[in-house]
Amino acid sequence: MSAVLIQEVKTVAELKSQPDDYRIAVEKIVVSHAVNELYGAQVFDEPAIALAPTPYAKWLTCRIAMEEYHHHVRFRSLADEIGVAPERMDPKVKQPLSIFSFELKTWPEFCVIKAIADYAEILQVEDLLHCSFHPLRNLGRITMPEEKFHAKFGKDSCLELIQAGQGDAVQDAINRYFPITPAFFGASNSKNNEMYRRFGLKQRSNEEMRADFLRRATELVEQDFGMTLPVIH
Ligand SMILES: [Fe+2]
Ligand SMILES: [Fe+2]
Repeated sequence: MSAVLIQEVKTVAELKSQPDDYRIAVEKIVVSHAVNELYGAQVFDEPAIALAPTPYAKWLTCRIAMEEYHHHVRFRSLADEIGVAPERMDPKVKQPLSIFSFELKTWPEFCVIKAIADYAEILQVEDLLHCSFHPLRNLGRITMPEEKFHAKFGKDSCLELIQAGQGDAVQDAINRYFPITPAFFGASNSKNNEMYRRFGLKQRSNEEMRADFLRRATELVEQDFGMTLPVIH
C-alpha cells in the first residue's frame, strides 16, 4: 500500500492543486451524497406527505422533505463548485442504490424507513466530520443535526404506532425494509473505501460502519420497540 497521505484541504480553490486521485475521490463522495439525498427525498419523503395521518404529522413530514431536498441542494452546490458534470447526479442516468428500491405505500413504512435508513445516513455523515477536505467536513456538520432529527422522528413515530395498536404494521415494514439496508454501506473489500481512508476523507471501513449500523438497529428494534429484527442471509 502506498504511503499514508493525511492532508488538510481547506477550500475548493486548494482542491484544484491536489493530485488527480484525491480530486476524483472527493468528487465520488460528493456525488454519492448529492444523488442519495435526492433519491431519498423523491421516493420517500415527498410522497410521505400524502400518507401522513394528521396535520401535525404532515407538517413534520413537510419539514423532513424540505430538509432532505436541502441536503441535496447543498451537496449539489459543492459538486458544481468543484466542477462535477451535472449528468453524474441525474437520477435518470445513475442507478439508485437498493435502499431506494422499496416501494413506499404506507405511513408505518415511512416511519420505519426514517428510524432505520436515516440512522444509516447519520453514520455516513458522521464519517465526514473529520474529513480532510474541509468543505465536505462543513457540510457534514450542518447536515448532522437534521439527520438526527429525522431518525428521532422515525423512532418516536414507530413508538406511537406501537402504542396505538399498530405494532403489526411496524413489524411487517421492518421485515420487508430492513434486509435491503446493510448493502447501503457498500462492499466489504471496497477499493474506493480503502482510498477514501488513505486520503483521510473517511475514517471507517464499510464493514465497521455496517457493524455499527447492525448493532444500533438491533438495539432500536429489539430493545426500544420490543420487536424482532429479521435474520439477514
Ligand atoms: Fe439527508
Ligand atoms: Fe434524513
